Amino acid sequence: MDQVSLDITNLFTEAVGPRVGLTEGEFLALAEPSQRALAAVLARREEDLRWQTLPQADAVRDEILAYADSVQGEFDHVVILGIGGSGLGMRALQTALNGPYHDLEPQAGLPRLFVLDNVDPDLIGEFLETVDPTRTLFNVISKSGGTAETMSQFLIFRQSLIEALGADSHARHIVVTTDAEQGFLREIAVREGYRAFAVPDGVGGRFSVLSPVGLLPAALVGIDIVGLLKGAAAMDERCRNAEFMENPALVCAAAQFLLQSNHDLPISVTFSYSHRLRDLADWFAQLLAESIGKQQGSDGSVVNAGPTPVRAVGVTDQHSQVQLYVEGPFDKWFTFLAVEQSDHTVAIPEAYGDIPGVGYLGGRTLNELFAAERDGTRVALTDAGRPNMTISFPRVDAHTIGQYLYMMQLAVAVMGEHYGVDAFDQPGVEAGKVAAYALMGRDGFEDERARIEAGMPTRRRTL
Ligand code: PA5
Repeated sequence: MDQVSLDITNLFTEAVGPRVGLTEGEFLALAEPSQRALAAVLARREEDLRWQTLPQADAVRDEILAYADSVQGEFDHVVILGIGGSGLGMRALQTALNGPYHDLEPQAGLPRLFVLDNVDPDLIGEFLETVDPTRTLFNVISKSGGTAETMSQFLIFRQSLIEALGADSHARHIVVTTDAEQGFLREIAVREGYRAFAVPDGVGGRFSVLSPVGLLPAALVGIDIVGLLKGAAAMDERCRNAEFMENPALVCAAAQFLLQSNHDLPISVTFSYSHRLRDLADWFAQLLAESIGKQQGSDGSVVNAGPTPVRAVGVTDQHSQVQLYVEGPFDKWFTFLAVEQSDHTVAIPEAYGDIPGVGYLGGRTLNELFAAERDGTRVALTDAGRPNMTISFPRVDAHTIGQYLYMMQLAVAVMGEHYGVDAFDQPGVEAGKVAAYALMGRDGFEDERARIEAGMPTRRRTL
């Protein structure tokens, strides 16, 4: 059975003691509200929350596979120009499913992947100096079609393509993913004749990894998108029908909500004991932070809600963060990501039998050491009274990753109901975007610029 599973034993007082542990009673008290929350999310499945239908979007999947097939072997590099929900999902897919060394020597016919989710001039400038655009396919991804970072990158790389290939030929090196009808990027795609894929209505940026936003670049770098969607569909099926205590999305949502609201643990640490899953924690951090971090509740009241996501990687962060986690303030809870079956078994050679402090390692495997360190950290946190749960992946493959992605999307949607916030907007992000437009002198934002300038401190405190 390749089902992703949850172990929630260490969330409860029996394991971590009464200080911040959950009681059976308070958990079960959330059963009915959770079912109601799920029903509310499911009711919008064919309306404004259509990300729930992505696992079943077979026609889109086939269109993506056909396009990937048609350009196979043509490009050495695929570059994502996209930020936030338009980049984090694909980076997580690449790290998990193509592994850390894919780009050193990709399989024959498969390109390397770069996710350029920043406008740091050193990042982009160096890229321009290093990578040959004539061997590159640029996937410009923006749901809104107007994000300044993505559009400025587009202008830069379009120009470098035109200089290298000429105005007519450059279009084959650009593929666009944006709203089906609206936005500047769609208008440009039509005008230039760029190949374009649609981000469907009802699919927001951070809920879009299973749409062409994630699937198209994934298919281009050889990731099994059929398996990914099947995994997501299996989790969709599982969560739609299961009762509260058997329902992984509902249990994740309840744990997060109760530990923050009843036990005052505002920090949610995703502790990945898998190098390949480390970027999934990044993807989840955005999903959680942008969805639940809200000033206003759905009823208009001021709530300033939201957990603070933190990412940690085992064993690396055992030698960096774990001291704080075990002995520091009681303000965190932990979700371990664990992999039951690694793809590799690495033996530790026998040597120095006469030095017991080293010799004991010989004849064992890194797999044993890694598992012992993970379990040891879990025990240390539990003994220190720190609530933790474990999400176990039987293996890291497209099917289990698809399950995880869908489970966490649904969990966060349900959390929105528990916290009483709109999990699908991002007014705080929009405010930053507007301020940047104003400071860059975009037409129509003059009043905002004047407002910002008027509010600037007259005396700066600098050292
Ligand atoms: O989740 C979101 O909506 C955001 O993180 C967006 O993905 C991000 O701001 C980029 O927006 P866009 O895809 O419109 O360029």
